[in-house]
Amino acid sequence: MTQHASQHQRLLIIDFGSQVTQLIARRLRELSVYCEIHPFNRVDAAFLRTFAPRAVILSGGPASVFAEGAPMPPAEVFTLGVPVLGICYGQQLMMHCLGGKVERGHGTAEFGRAFVSAAGGGLDLLEGWFEAGREQVWMSHGDHVSALAPGFAVYGTSPNAPFAITADPARHFYAVQFHPEVHHTPGGARMLGNFVRLAGFAGDWTMGAYRDEAIRAIRGQVGDARVICGLSGGVDSSVAAVLIHEAIGDQLTCVFVDHGLLRLNEAEEVVTMFRDHYNIPLIHADESDLFLGALEGVADPEVKRKTIGRLFIDVFQKHAAEVGGAAFLAQGTLYPDVIESVSFSGGPSVTIKSHHNVGGLPEKMGLRLVEPLRELFKDEVRALGRELGLPEQFIGRHPFPGPGLAIRCPGEITREKLEILRRADAVFIDQIRRHGLYDAIWQAFAAILPMRTVGVMGDGRTYDYALGLRAVTSVDGMTADYYPFSHEFLSETATRIINEVQGVNRVFYDVTSKPPGTIELE
Ligand code: XMP
Repeated sequence: MTQHASQHQRLLIIDFGSQVTQLIARRLRELSVYCEIHPFNRVDAAFLRTFAPRAVILSGGPASVFAEGAPMPPAEVFTLGVPVLGICYGQQLMMHCLGGKVERGHGTAEFGRAFVSAAGGGLDLLEGWFEAGREQVWMSHGDHVSALAPGFAVYGTSPNAPFAITADPARHFYAVQFHPEVHHTPGGARMLGNFVRLAGFAGDWTMGAYRDEAIRAIRGQVGDARVICGLSGGVDSSVAAVLIHEAIGDQLTCVFVDHGLLRLNEAEEVVTMFRDHYNIPLIHADESDLFLGALEGVADPEVKRKTIGRLFIDVFQKHAAEVGGAAFLAQGTLYPDVIESVSFSGGPSVTIKSHHNVGGLPEKMGLRLVEPLRELFKDEVRALGRELGLPEQFIGRHPFPGPGLAIRCPGEITREKLEILRRADAVFIDQIRRHGLYDAIWQAFAAILPMRTVGVMGDGRTYDYALGLRAVTSVDGMTADYYPFSHEFLSETATRIINEVQGVNRVFYDVTSKPPGTIELE
């Protein structure tokens, strides 16, 4: 917990390993409530005293309260005197810990959509619920509650869940069997809103307040030392840079490494915004020859990524030395990167791709980190960017990977391929913007496929590159669905690309979701 977070009313989410725990936090942040997610095995009585939550939420999770060593909350959660909401496994825990009964879910497991009807009297948690009859909710559980803990009563039932909504209103303990945090529970945000209101949250977490506090905290941390910041042109590092510049002015120098793998006009746009619009000291390191030279003949995705990552660190280090005596490195690390999630598998996860960032630099260079976005989700970073006056076109930008176009050019990279890719990508994005679809899509881009195919244009034969288009929807990049463009859109876009970009005679649209695919091609 950082200094400025501690000034806010705080809600604690204890994580028991649900796939959707992060969504609880996102919904609460949307309600202007500051919350943090902590794994159950890090929360004990001392932690609770220091954190001093105004309310606690127990997340769902894959375990069974019957399993040996089943994850449990510390007993003190129930004696803090603050409202507690248990969700799914959290509900079973509350019953188990408070004197109710849970049964194994033989035959009564319920997954997916269900409908809950009102039972019992009115409940503060349910204000606005059941006005139009039953409520749709999203269930995902095996075990279920079979007897309530003393003080609890039922306030909602579904055909397979007689204890769908339970509560002990006197103690402000609430326990629900479904997931109010997911979109498939349309009234879920309202329920969470009721919960934080009855817990007395004033909604004091706003980006305006955050900006002022972050500026004070950065000044306190940095003093009169110098800070360097690696800019990628993406939203996170840009917002971090502008925020830090507001705090410490020209003590900050940004380093923008152009590795020759950027999109059309990208370098100019970034440099113009930082130098001309914000007057932030910026080193524009054009190192495209170095990177493209090292990548010549390299076709293996991991070798590409590692080469780019290594050169990036070398180049950054070289230019950072020009700043002279920087003591801090600024990074746009976000909250999802710092949340410790509960792993039940125990083993290390497989490396699918070596992600490239400036990891490894701080130790090498003896730098301390400034990470002013560590408490924020992506949508909050965007809101902060607006607060700081960044142009909307910059804020709403789709994510762009560190290795840039290299991983959208499977096989060997050549300058010719990169040029085709840049032009085709620009047409695709222009099409998406013209059709008003940009904001509905998480990420869209063109990729140049490692093959040439035969075509016919005019009366002549062509033997040109094939291009792949990819557009996905996602909430965090971890899973994704392909975007369902209309056939008209696809054929108009393919026609434009083939007409406007020399060297392409065929266009494919990628309809793979993630998993099994990944978003980028390499
Ligand atoms: P994948 O391809 O793994 O991508 O499904 C998930 C998200 O991460 C981005 N991505 C990266 N971002 N450095 C980055 O900063 C990387 O090396 C990198 N590789 C993938 C990708 O664009 C997508 O948003």
